[in-house]
Amino acid sequence: MKAMQVAAYGSPDALTIAELDDPVPGDNEVLVDVAAAGVNPIDWKIVSGAMKTFIPLPLPFTPGVDAAGTVIAVGRNVATLTPGDEVMGFIGIVGAYATRVVVDASRLALKPARLSFAEAAAMPAATLTAWQALHEHGALQAGQKVLIHAAAGGVGSAAVQLAKLAGAHVIGTASSGNREYVQSLGAAVFIDYRAQDFAEQVSQVDLVLDLVGGTTQARSWSVLKRGGVLVSTVSRPDAGHAGNAAQATGRHFATRADGPQLAALAGLHASDELRTHVDTVFPLSEAGNALARSMGGHLRGKVVLDVTG
Ligand SMILES: NC(=O)c1ccc[n+]([C@@H]2O[C@H](COP(=O)([O-])OP(=O)(O)OC[C@H]3O[C@@H](n4cnc5c(N)ncnc54)[C@H](OP(=O)(O)O)[C@@H]3O)[C@@H](O)[C@H]2O)c1
Repeated sequence: MKAMQVAAYGSPDALTIAELDDPVPGDNEVLVDVAAAGVNPIDWKIVSGAMKTFIPLPLPFTPGVDAAGTVIAVGRNVATLTPGDEVMGFIGIVGAYATRVVVDASRLALKPARLSFAEAAAMPAATLTAWQALHEHGALQAGQKVLIHAAAGGVGSAAVQLAKLAGAHVIGTASSGNREYVQSLGAAVFIDYRAQDFAEQVSQVDLVLDLVGGTTQARSWSVLKRGGVLVSTVSRPDAGHAGNAAQATGRHFATRADGPQLAALAGLHASDELRTHVDTVFPLSEAGNALARSMGGHLRGKVVLDVTG
């Protein structure tokens, strides 16, 4: 098998391709012939070394948390998948930038036939994150007002659609070039964060989904209503912030891999209620360029690696 490897923490340029033995699936694992790998911000955060205190990894390692491909072998306890099944999953903290990977079967879901492998690899981590943020941490209810920052990115694109499906009134922020895109996903109101101060545009919000952090997160307290929730994937919100006059609640979480939840979300793709937009596809050998594109912070949807070449 081929794998893109990080031998020393640092820039994405330092990734090199290695020839390795195929891994052997454990009792609860399957071996997947990878067709595409999703690229996520956590990949370049891990590659840079910024997360090594929280997530210590033996070097060298292969980045990548999202994979889609075909099952080619199963462990002896695996009854849910068989060789030939086309699957996708949030496979773990690393490993997807490779032609083969072993994955715990409980993390995988069958790929809907209408999704390409690139679309399927783009979907798991971002869509699970959006669902868990809105429903598990934000307790979203129909009719509520939701403000989603970075609505055009990987998580934001899924979150706008899922919030709209839940019957929420969705307000999305992005730059002006993404206005039509974010509205097409289901946002009733679009705010260009470069031209307008969202804190002057919206108020009495039930749920803010912060996918940006920093001052965007801090300024979000002022738009929340009493009983509101600020959910962030980036950093733990400080509910003691002076702007939190409504005494809203802050939540931060790490996305949980969950095969059954992913299968339910795949069902929304199968029925075309949910779509994944692929921003750019890079060959596996250009994983460094793919990471650089993600680091730029201005994707529409997702960057994906084509692992078939
Ligand atoms: N805790 C967890 O388990 C977890 C899970 C998933 C993601 N995350 C984190 O969540 C964050 C978002 O992830 P992602 O994959 O969605 O990122 P992404 O796809 O890279 O986000 C890109 C989007 O951010 C928008 N953006 C940049 N600056 C903005 C601003 N100031 N206001 C509004 N929009 C802005 C861009 O819009 P324009 O191009 O229009 O500027 C672009 O569409 C990352 O920090 C990631 O590490 C954490």
